[in-house]
Amino acid sequence: MASLAQFHILISREEIAKAVTRLASEIERDYQGKQPLLIGILKGSFVFLADLIRQLELPVEIEFVKLSSYGAGKETSGKVKVVQGLKTPVKGRDVLVIEDIVDTGITISFLLNYLRKKKPASLKLCALTDKPSRRQTPVSIDYLGFTVPDKFIVGYGLDFDEKFRYLPDICFLEDY
Ligand code: IMP
Ligand code: MG
Repeated sequence: MASLAQFHILISREEIAKAVTRLASEIERDYQGKQPLLIGILKGSFVFLADLIRQLELPVEIEFVKLSSYGAGKETSGKVKVVQGLKTPVKGRDVLVIEDIVDTGITISFLLNYLRKKKPASLKLCALTDKPSRRQTPVSIDYLGFTVPDKFIVGYGLDFDEKFRYLPDICFLEDY
C-alpha cells in the first residue's frame, strides 16, 4: 500500500486551476449563444467537471455516463460497456464530452461512436490529460489541459483501484 510520501506531484493544483480557466474561456468562445450538454464520464471526470462548469459562463446542462473497460488495476480490458446510460436526449444537442484522461483511446472512441449514432447537432471532446504514448485508437481532442508522460497518474478525480481520487494535485507513484 503506497504511503503519501511516495507520491510525486506532476501537475500542481495551481497549474490545474490555470488550465481549467483557459479551457473554460476556449469553450465559452466556441459555444456563444448555445446551451451545450456536458457529458462527464464517471467516475474520473467528476472533479474536473465540477471545477470547469463553475468557470463557464454558459447555461450548460450536465449528464453522466458510466463506462466500464478497466478491471481492478491499471490496464484496460479493451472491452467497453455502458454501465449507466444517459437520461437526457442527445439528438440535436451540442454535446461536449468531459474526460479525465485519454490513454489507449479505446474508452473515449467507444463513447464518441455511441453518441454520434444519437445524432447530436455537434460532438466535441474536452480532456484534462492526454497520454499519447499509449494510444491504440486515434482520438481528436478539441480542448486539452495537459499532455502527460507514460506514467500512471492519480488525484484530482483520477484513481488507482478506486484510491487517491481526493488528492488535490495530479501525482504519480514512484514504483509504477
Ligand atoms: P483508455 O480507454 O485506455 O483511453 O482509458 C481511459 C480510462 O482509463 C480513463 O477514463 C481513466 O479512467 C483510466 N486511466 C487511464 N490512464 C490512467 C492513469 O494514468 N490514471 C488513472 N486512470 C487512468
Ligand atoms: Mg477510471
